[in-house]
Amino acid sequence: MNTRARLVVLISGTGTNLQAVLDACESHRLDAEVVAVVSNRADAGGLERARTHGVEGVVVSPEPGEIRTDYDTRLAEVVSSFQPDWVVLAGFMRLLSMRFLERFPNRVVNVHPALPGDLPGVAAIERAHREGLEGRRDRTGVMVHLVPDEGIDSGPPVVVEEVALMAGESLHELEQRMHAVEHRLLVEALRRLISSEDGGS
Ligand code: GRF
Repeated sequence: MNTRARLVVLISGTGTNLQAVLDACESHRLDAEVVAVVSNRADAGGLERARTHGVEGVVVSPEPGEIRTDYDTRLAEVVSSFQPDWVVLAGFMRLLSMRFLERFPNRVVNVHPALPGDLPGVAAIERAHREGLEGRRDRTGVMVHLVPDEGIDSGPPVVVEEVALMAGESLHELEQRMHAVEHRLLVEALRRLISSEDGGS
């Protein structure tokens, strides 16, 4: 019997990327199920989205003074307990050390609003928009990539899409366009990974 791929989604914020995955699973556009949502922040809006969809939400808060590898060990234990086929970083705003990543080799996927090798790290959309205003770039993009090591937004891409900058466009308008691309690409990337796993097309 073809069991659905088990996804654990890690979030830190509003969870619109999580929502795209939840919707794709429920509409069977994705042969997968989100078995848990794990957040490093108790105030993440995505936890409410999980609850609405009857998905368990777990908060793993860093403890004061806790070193990164200790936190990552705790986080890996929680994530591992749900037996994920894929660990999806959807707006998860912490860098993960090998202490976490080594528990899920080639199974961690991240969505990042920039092209490979371009604008790694935080505020990528804002930086692209500012460089557009300065005439220093005419495009940016979105990628979904594997996270094999501690490189920042640098793992092998699964899917990439360019997004042209539009003259006179506000940051908010660009963000809206970029998030729409992220939501679509994250589902497409997971679909490819899952079907390649099943030996599918
Ligand atoms: C997205 O742009 C994501 O790529 C970035 O942070 C934002 C979070 O979006 N890492 P959401 O929490 O999924 O709405």
